[in-house]
Amino acid sequence: MRFLNRPPERSLRAALRILLLLVPLTAACQNRVVISADLARDTISRHIYGHFSEHLGRCIYGGYFVGEGNTKIPNTRGMRTDVVTALRKLKIPNIRWPGGCFADTYHWKDGIGPGAKRPAIVNSWWGGVTEDNSFGTHEFLDLCDQLGAEPYITGNVGSGTVQEFAQWVQYTNFDGVSPMSALRRENGREKPWKVRFWGVGNEAWGCGGNMTAEHYADVYRTFATFIPASHGSGSLWRIASGAGSSDFHWTEVLMRDIPQGLIEGVALHHYSVDWTHKSSATGFTEAEYFETMRRALQMEDLVQRHGTIMDMYDPKKKVALVVDEWGGWYDVEPGTNPGFLYQQNTMRDAMIAGVTLNIFNNHCDRVRMANLAQTVNVLQAVVLTEGERMIVTPTYHVMEMYTVHHDALLLPSSVRSGVYTLGEKSLPAVSVSASRDREGVTHISLVNIDAGRAQDVVVEMRGEGCSSVSGRILASGKVQDHNTFDDPARVKPAEFAGARLDGSTLRVQLPPCSVVVLTLH
Ligand code: AHR
Repeated sequence: MRFLNRPPERSLRAALRILLLLVPLTAACQNRVVISADLARDTISRHIYGHFSEHLGRCIYGGYFVGEGNTKIPNTRGMRTDVVTALRKLKIPNIRWPGGCFADTYHWKDGIGPGAKRPAIVNSWWGGVTEDNSFGTHEFLDLCDQLGAEPYITGNVGSGTVQEFAQWVQYTNFDGVSPMSALRRENGREKPWKVRFWGVGNEAWGCGGNMTAEHYADVYRTFATFIPASHGSGSLWRIASGAGSSDFHWTEVLMRDIPQGLIEGVALHHYSVDWTHKSSATGFTEAEYFETMRRALQMEDLVQRHGTIMDMYDPKKKVALVVDEWGGWYDVEPGTNPGFLYQQNTMRDAMIAGVTLNIFNNHCDRVRMANLAQTVNVLQAVVLTEGERMIVTPTYHVMEMYTVHHDALLLPSSVRSGVYTLGEKSLPAVSVSASRDREGVTHISLVNIDAGRAQDVVVEMRGEGCSSVSGRILASGKVQDHNTFDDPARVKPAEFAGARLDGSTLRVQLPPCSVVVLTLH
């Protein structure tokens, strides 16, 4: 009131002063993105969008595979039709199998030949259940064919032998006359599959053998020596078992001690989890959500720091960083086997997927392969099944929306993000990546992890002339929202009308907790 009663020029001066004070504040809060299409150089490998499927819980059995004789659940040679149909839409480039921890207990010869003769074993890592080996090498490679995905096989280093590993490669890849190609033919497969991607053990620092980095590097050298460098029509990738999250020493030793002629990839595993307090997959608080986001965003730092170590030994970036396990990890669904790692999947998981895939895209010069853990019914699954029913999750939708980035040219982006604040803590709210596909169409994926506030984003397009914008959005009322077998389409993508193009400036309003993919022509 006093302010209004002042003489007009003094009121004006006071108002101006307040405005000047406010401007920098508003600008600091505004999200600004510059996309430099003129600096584009690197391609986003589609293999960043790979999946991981382990003999764990109901991922393989009940998830993908219901057995050929199953008359209740439609299938092709035992693979569920509904699951295969849904997954084909994700254009899955590669699937990592059979583990995980299971891989270093797995003897592949148990899973070939007539079903009745295959031995039943105990899955000692996951629930102590009986594994009847009805899903083995032929079934996995058939699944990959049905999905149009490349296989990525992890061999047994922890409890296997060099010979066993080398024979597996010969069994799947050798065209000529040899004991293993003869065995393959005996089992009904004339032509080799030519498997390109091979993991040399898994988590050798833990379930894969509790080795030191130095010891594993030596073991790796021996195994890799007997794995041929070609898979029959091109070079084979030998991928070393990598570090857990921030174990930079592990990466350093591998890069230092393994000759470059013996290695094509170094792995890295990072889960967005607080191991001391995993929290419910659906009934979580905002503080728990915030913590998951903090851990998901750590991927940026991890990729940069492991990448810097790799640069020191491999400045030409010949060796790929392969993030072959990533995702959220929560308490199992109440009443389910704790060893089966079955969890629901909410908008929180969509946020993990959106920001993580943006990070991988933006670091595609080094990150050339990655695998979400895991595809069906385990951890951050894209598909859940219950008997004859199947649903897709929010993570599925993000994966589907991001298919536009597969093998597209990365358009480098600089982001000045506003913050998502909870109490004393804050995180960057907005994450972005952009690419141009082979038809010349530009796509920008934007994520707002802020659970309560929309974010206005101004995007400046440099070196790129676009005249129209359209988009799709994945958002929902609450970050806990998810699909269920009774409400399977609660979370699904919709058309997005919140982007405006004005010359080379794009203005976007991102609702709270949303993933948006824009298409620019
Ligand atoms: O994805 C579940 C398990 O997590 C994998 O088997 C193991 O590699 C990791 O510790």
